[in-house]
Amino acid sequence: MTENRIVVAIDSQEKHRAIDLAKNISDEIFAIKVNWPLILEEGHSIISKLSAFSKVICDFKVADIPNTNRLIAEKVHKDGAFAIIAHSVVGEDSLRAISQVSDDLKLISVVSMSHPGAESFLNPLSDKLIENARKVNSYGLIAPGNNTKFISHIKALDTGMKIFSPGIGVQGGDPVDAIVAGTDYVIIGRSIYLAEKPQDVVADINGKITAALKNIPMS
Ligand code: XMP
Repeated sequence: MTENRIVVAIDSQEKHRAIDLAKNISDEIFAIKVNWPLILEEGHSIISKLSAFSKVICDFKVADIPNTNRLIAEKVHKDGAFAIIAHSVVGEDSLRAISQVSDDLKLISVVSMSHPGAESFLNPLSDKLIENARKVNSYGLIAPGNNTKFISHIKALDTGMKIFSPGIGVQGGDPVDAIVAGTDYVIIGRSIYLAEKPQDVVADINGKITAALKNIPMS
């Protein structure tokens, strides 16, 4: 059986619906990603509640001094999070402060973003941001799923870090194209959590990924 490659971003759901969604799709996905909208609505206890059903990735895009980054990472680790997303652009020391919190809490580093504004400042720095993440043994990188050329570029660098790609569906990226280009996990939000039957959408995407993966071994 191939590993599940979907990370579902639950950005806006009331607690009970988020938990129901997690229960219904947990066997078919790699992880659930939570972001500020859900946390601010339901409180941080939603992390431990969702962790009962799935790995939880906290997309807090942490971007602070090392001490503050560490305090945030310790808190989500206590809540049972699998991983936390942080900006590589704040520097090696700030990233390292997170990666040293616990072997059980993975660091996923933002090295590029999918929205047009990212082209002005962030994306031109992406190679340096990838190198920064590599130096602190980041578990993963965030790279836009709507930029398959860039995904292939990261894949060719052979960094050993997992590639997670948002920007799928509403933002234009295609899950199969992203996987074929080298992404390990596609992050999908609205196309799944706003669907009438999220389970069917997940099953459909999984089917397409499995078919495409037949000739592409997992790195
Ligand atoms: P949608 O609804 O667009 O949700 O499928 C995507 C989720 O991923 C986040 N997102 C990003 N995070 N770099 C990131 O680190 C990006 O380029 C990016 N694009 C989208 C978004 O906040 C939402 O949770």
